Amino acid sequence: MTKLWGGRFTKPTNKLVEEYTSSIGFDQKLAFQDIQGSLAHVEMLGKCGILSDDEVKQITEGLHTIEKKIEKGDVEYSVADEDIHMNIEKLLIEEIGPVGGKLHTGRSRNDQVATDMHLYLREKTEYLINLVEEVQKSLVHQAEAHVETIIPGYTHLQRAQPVSFGHHLLAYFWMFERDKERLKDSVKRINWSPLGAAALAGTPYAIDRQMTAEALGFDKPYPNSLDAVSDRDFILEFLSISSILITHISRLSEELILWSSQEFNFIELDDEFCTGSSIMPQKKNPDVPELLRGKTGRIYGNLMGLLTLLKGLPLAYNKDMQEDKEGMFDTVDTLDGALSLLAPMLATMEVKGQNMRQAVNEDYSNATDIADYLALKGLPFRQAHEVIGKIVLYAIEKKKYLLDLSIEEYQQFSELFEEDIYEKLAPDHVVAVRNSEGGTGFEQVKHQLSLAKQHIE
Ligand code: ARG
Repeated sequence: MTKLWGGRFTKPTNKLVEEYTSSIGFDQKLAFQDIQGSLAHVEMLGKCGILSDDEVKQITEGLHTIEKKIEKGDVEYSVADEDIHMNIEKLLIEEIGPVGGKLHTGRSRNDQVATDMHLYLREKTEYLINLVEEVQKSLVHQAEAHVETIIPGYTHLQRAQPVSFGHHLLAYFWMFERDKERLKDSVKRINWSPLGAAALAGTPYAIDRQMTAEALGFDKPYPNSLDAVSDRDFILEFLSISSILITHISRLSEELILWSSQEFNFIELDDEFCTGSSIMPQKKNPDVPELLRGKTGRIYGNLMGLLTLLKGLPLAYNKDMQEDKEGMFDTVDTLDGALSLLAPMLATMEVKGQNMRQAVNEDYSNATDIADYLALKGLPFRQAHEVIGKIVLYAIEKKKYLLDLSIEEYQQFSELFEEDIYEKLAPDHVVAVRNSEGGTGFEQVKHQLSLAKQHIE
């Protein structure tokens, strides 16, 4: 059979052009969405009296037959038929004869491809939301076990103030919660139906776009046919949200990598999630979080690719837009892989609470609390800060930590110091007293955990 659009041509397409312009190599991922869209379209054509009941029946059955063949892997796509839309139409005509050619009444590949991508992305967005939630469950599981495990908290990667390890993990929970919210919110805009916008201008057939929108579970048809076929905002939005999401995954991965180094030695990832070195027998490498961190590059790249592609495109459809798919597919697959690994890797990591505690015992991260101690006794905080700075310097010179200084040593710096300074400096106390809303105090962290659980059940 010749090309579906062959009528106007006198020469066959150059083979290189055929290969260069074809998208079947990647858009075959949209086969089921394409059939779903066609089924809704043909049913509407019947109900609107544009096709006869018998024609609708033949086309519908033909589409179902093709669907089954695709499921079984029984079809061979052809580059000469360019894309998934024309491949399926060709298969349909082969299956049921010329009546198959009536399916394309009142529509174009331009609204068809847009419809397919809306359907695809809605399904994948819902799927990814569930995967993000699995990661959140792992975080909650670990946080719950480590409310009272104390870890140094950092700013500038310098020890700052001790915090609950559960609190640290829950920080990521809320990042992922916002990612989930963004994904859910984006479905509102994915749920506009392009179907029936036809090539760009609508169609003279008395079609019913509300009907197809409803049949496909969309909220409403795009109100403007030009916008319907040229809008790719919903993909841009998905790629933007994905970029933020992979940023969170990458920051968490970076911490997992640091924490599993011998220098930190705060956690150990399960053997199942690590790999070895082909030359250094002692190595246990955090390859998974490293790759998760590395995947950021391609996801940002996919966003930049589509932004660049769309910038300056005149309305309405342009062939450039065929380039919108691979980045979208790649982002979906990359996030699928990343989230699917992150959840069990977090759930199974060993937390070395003793080492974390030792790190806290061997630092000066309780210095703020001595300043607060003096401030509570009436010394202006700024002056107290100055005094404690001197004490820290003194302690470092003496190779002592703040809890090791004698009361006489403290009193050399200020008369306000009394024996109760020691209990105020104990790490558990330092963490517990930060009981302001959202703080790391144990009571607050428990409260936060209960809030977190409301979002995953
Ligand atoms: N394969 C095309 C794409 O992915 C489908 C739309 C083609 N439309 C056209 N007028 N050439 O964008």
